[in-house]
Amino acid sequence: MKNISVIGVGYVGLVTAAAFSDLGNRVVALDINEEKIRNLESGIMPIYEPGLAEMVARNVRAGRLSFTTDYAVAAKDAEFVFICVGTPEGVDGEADLQYVRMAAESLARVMEHPLIVINKSTVPVGTGDWVAEIIRSTQPKPIEFAVVSCPEFLREGSALSDFMAPDRTVLGSENQSAADAVAQLHLPLRAPIVVTDLRTAEMIKYASNAFLATKISFINEIANICESLGADVEEVARGMGFDKRIGRSFLSAGVGYGGSCFPKDVKALKHMATLRGKHPQLLQAVIEINDFQRSIPVRKLQEMLGGNLNGKVIGLLGLAFKPGTDDMREAPALSIAEMLRAQGAIVRGYDPVSMSNVARTHPWIDLRQDAYDLVAGCDAVIVVTEWNEFKQLDKERVRDLMARPILIDGRNIYDPAYMRSIGFEYRAIGRGYNGEGTRNGN
Ligand code: UDX
Repeated sequence: MKNISVIGVGYVGLVTAAAFSDLGNRVVALDINEEKIRNLESGIMPIYEPGLAEMVARNVRAGRLSFTTDYAVAAKDAEFVFICVGTPEGVDGEADLQYVRMAAESLARVMEHPLIVINKSTVPVGTGDWVAEIIRSTQPKPIEFAVVSCPEFLREGSALSDFMAPDRTVLGSENQSAADAVAQLHLPLRAPIVVTDLRTAEMIKYASNAFLATKISFINEIANICESLGADVEEVARGMGFDKRIGRSFLSAGVGYGGSCFPKDVKALKHMATLRGKHPQLLQAVIEINDFQRSIPVRKLQEMLGGNLNGKVIGLLGLAFKPGTDDMREAPALSIAEMLRAQGAIVRGYDPVSMSNVARTHPWIDLRQDAYDLVAGCDAVIVVTEWNEFKQLDKERVRDLMARPILIDGRNIYDPAYMRSIGFEYRAIGRGYNGEGTRNGN
């Protein structure tokens, strides 16, 4: 059992705190937001993540997990301090490090004994050295510490299982014994551990996310080419995916990537490169393709509705940036809603879990109680998020409820031949000419 503190109870911090306490460590989780901490103490989670509330409750009950807003409490017995604060996108696409700075300074002021500071937030390459410098210059008296980078690779919606069964753990430090101590903490996860220097570890995170985003933009570009050549991108991805060098994952064409990581990290990496006089052409293309992809459902609708969306009622089936989360950060649904609104359409939305977040930021989206309520009277519907419950819908009922059965399947979840056979004017992404489906019935 080790004593661990986690600074920041956002996505990464809360999952890290819950998981390390579940592995038998004593964990104190800190946030400067008092309301968040009060809520957590009474079992209310700040985010929706499957299994998280139960894991937090179990470890609080067992006395292994506690919450605080006081840095002195968090630092008191800590051997390891994880920095998991947000690094939002700044004005030029660079990461905004103000919360990392605050965390490092606040910790430095109350440090009473040597400890290891582990950075999990996604930070520009070189931040680890900068954090060390901040701590050193803020400490009232010199106390030994080491900085280790341990980037997170968690996906929202499966963050706990990703944490407990990672593909790898990456550790970067100039201090070998600190890296070894952090490696020990991760041994129960039974994953390969890559130990390297600080800057390389920080870069591994950006390169991994940029590569995955590139795969998505690649298949989206292929999807668009498929539409002009009459090929089916779903079959293309399947055929490519059996090649072990390629793999099938992250080759699902759709309305583009969103979320708290890919958009921000690709832009931040591009920014870091540009600052140093490089021309990251591939990253630029990845970003442009992703922006374009969000406009595709709207372009398809314009074509099907004779170029005029004014006064048309358009329903968005799914709002979250992907299934299994209520996170609306960089969600394609919001860009699509804005584009439709700009053209005078009346925008409706339904999502199984993210509607309260959308209501706060986009009160002009007419939010409906369920999928059938959403489609009733719509001139067209766009599938934006591939929630399972949408796959199971009674399609004939959907068709009968709509004013006109136009369906843009932005995530390719339906069978084009079947949808057309029951009377939908159906368009998918990259499936045959204009996304209408291929001749062999798909
Ligand atoms: C991602 C990384 O996977 C994770 O390792 C990192 O730590 C944080 O960023 P997350 O943002 O939770 O995780 O979601 P992910 O499942 O990776 O999907 C990201 C976006 O890409 C979603 O909008 C999703 O719809 C889209 N996507 C994903 C596609 O459009 N096609 C695909 O084939 C895969």
